[in-house]
Amino acid sequence: MDSAPGKLIFLVGFMGSGKSAVARLLARRLGGCPVIEADTWIEAEAGMRIPEIFERCGEPVFRDMETDLLERLDPHTASVVSCGGGMALRLENRQLMRDKGLTIWLTAEPHTILSRVGHSDRPLLAGRMNTAAIDAMMSERAPLYAAVAQMQISTDGRTPAAVAEACLAAIERWYPCD
Ligand code: S3P
Repeated sequence: MDSAPGKLIFLVGFMGSGKSAVARLLARRLGGCPVIEADTWIEAEAGMRIPEIFERCGEPVFRDMETDLLERLDPHTASVVSCGGGMALRLENRQLMRDKGLTIWLTAEPHTILSRVGHSDRPLLAGRMNTAAIDAMMSERAPLYAAVAQMQISTDGRTPAAVAEACLAAIERWYPCD
């Protein structure tokens, strides 16, 4: 595979795979580059929290906002982007990520995910916060994460700091001269 032309590092993966915590630590290890938290950016743009956007505007509007964010990201400014779990669903988004940087897929087993997001208000897990539903949704999405990511890192049984170190090592292998 060719090296990615952009300077952005995208963290993708299922809800609760640790993207936000790892993004903050990874950015610090990369010299203090900015972190772009996709959900926070969207909440600020919309002036609403994610569950409210889903409820009042519907999922397609939320997905359009994810695409809008990716379109607006400057690929020449090194940053770590913590993507929402559904950012890789659209082909257009996967293309934008491939064009603008390097993508790392953070994985976790369904029981790990449940232990991390079990008490949250993720709209797509409302009423089905259990390992069977998580497993089914993850199986549907896995090919899409695999299609966009250049590398995959497991987060099961690892601290966010250990995962950030693993990301850093993978990035250094990918860009050996930087
Ligand atoms: C979503 C994941 C959430 C958030 C929204 C939709 C998804 O982000 O973007 O609730 O489709 O998987 P996290 O992955 O940060 O929980």
